Amino acid sequence: MDGSWGIGHTRWATHGGVTKANAHPHCSCDGKIAVVHNGIIENHHAIRAMLEKMGCPFLSETDTEVIPHLISYYYKEDLVEALKAAVVNLQGTYGIACIHADEPGRIVGARNGSPLVVGVGAGEMFLASDITAMVAYTDKVVYLNDGEIVDIQENHYSIIDREERTVDKKVAQITWELGSIEKGDYPCYMEKEIFEQPESIARALSGRLDVENATAKLGGLNLGRGRLSDVGRVKIIAAGTSWHAGLVGSLLLEQFARIPAQAELASEIRYRNPVVEKDSLWFTVSQSGETADSLYAMREIQRKGATVLGICNVVGSTIARESDGGIYVHSGPEIAVASTKAFTSQLAAFYLFTLFIARMRHLSREEGLSFLASLQEVPAKVAQTLGQRDHVQEIAKKYHKAKDFLFLGRGNLYPIALEGALKLKEISYIHAEGCSAGEMKHGPIALVSPEVPSLFLVSDDFLREKTISNMREIKARGGPIIAVGVEGDKEVAVLADDFIPVPKGDPRFYPFTMVIPLQLFAYFCALELGRDVDQPRNLAKSVTVE
Ligand code: G6P
Repeated sequence: MDGSWGIGHTRWATHGGVTKANAHPHCSCDGKIAVVHNGIIENHHAIRAMLEKMGCPFLSETDTEVIPHLISYYYKEDLVEALKAAVVNLQGTYGIACIHADEPGRIVGARNGSPLVVGVGAGEMFLASDITAMVAYTDKVVYLNDGEIVDIQENHYSIIDREERTVDKKVAQITWELGSIEKGDYPCYMEKEIFEQPESIARALSGRLDVENATAKLGGLNLGRGRLSDVGRVKIIAAGTSWHAGLVGSLLLEQFARIPAQAELASEIRYRNPVVEKDSLWFTVSQSGETADSLYAMREIQRKGATVLGICNVVGSTIARESDGGIYVHSGPEIAVASTKAFTSQLAAFYLFTLFIARMRHLSREEGLSFLASLQEVPAKVAQTLGQRDHVQEIAKKYHKAKDFLFLGRGNLYPIALEGALKLKEISYIHAEGCSAGEMKHGPIALVSPEVPSLFLVSDDFLREKTISNMREIKARGGPIIAVGVEGDKEVAVLADDFIPVPKGDPRFYPFTMVIPLQLFAYFCALELGRDVDQPRNLAKSVTVE
């Protein structure tokens, strides 16, 4: 399209089906005001009824459509004034961008609960809900806060707050490189991001390994030594893949730091009125730093007086800014909806924190050094595991027609089983269930048949024998088995119909390597089935609505 200013939006349906009529932008009756909106207007029924009474025709089923009509109602000659008056009536969450045909070159935005970022260019300006959208055009951004309204023109922007005071904000610099948002030679982002993991994990560890003192250096925790030694319990809040990283983190903290730890689903905890003990330290894990459930859960926990640290990828995201400190995972932009490299970097953050806090307690220098040595080996071991690419592709060709899958693991591989099942569901749409291998006999085993394959994760630690027994139980019932196990494990290789080896190493670190074949397996099954790998149906990269 020709033109020098415009707005657009990829809608994630909340009110009304996925139809052309419901797609953004939505316009005022005279067609002069156009609006795109991320979020949910909770009182849209009441506003719509009022506007309809005034003779305003509605063309969609969306909550968003009330916004352009409301702005039009207040519009005299100035879009900022009209938007200011309109948002006073809105209850709910919004990131809004709007334009008026009579005010060319001007975009006005408003934020409440949904992210909005201004991109500052040379002779051009941007407004988006995420820096990923504009990193190709500018590396200078300004983050808006709730209640703020921004007025953007070609060479200029100004921001006002709820009290109509002008807000002077620091322009932040994005350090992501343009190359990191390009596909390069890969057919899609997910494959690229899977293969980036040796470097992205190395980046998460970079500068944070203190070999001399056998500990980790984490500069952003903002917690004094005293506060850290008083931590009696760790609680982790997250959603989706980030929750799985949190589950691995909770096991680590309990096992190696001997601190009781628990990972909770953000969408559950936020409505549970949780007990917040004085000595508890909370984490919110979020790649995007914008997941609504995680953000609101974090705010609720902070309201109750707790310290909440963020483990985020996107620098400057809302969770990163509102948390009391934290660890950036530095994966670089993750574009594919299904998270891969951010997951392994989140794991790296938890391994670093576990080492750090364990060394403040019982962990000896020697034990710390051994932990560090294993952590340093992770990028190379992940690179070696990626060498299984073609083998995993063959296995995916064999199994992709299955309608259901079981993913089974124990100990620190149980969360990896959950993650493997989630990856497969997300991008191939094959139904998959992740469960603890020990729990299988209490239900999931009823699903086992020659048509339902099981994917086992088998460590070579004390749980190996137990997992092998579970494999035998599946075999006895005619279920096909794929096993991801440790190279050289002949017994597992023979028992399984298909075997994917990962390099032998410290079993505490197998979550890093064992998740790789599962990411590849999901990816190749999705390819075989002709799915849109990077943008699977119904899913969004950053879910900024409840
Ligand atoms: C969405 C994405 C998932 C992601 C989850 C949590 O559902 O599709 O891939 O794991 O959100 O996202 P976050 O940005 O908080 O890690």
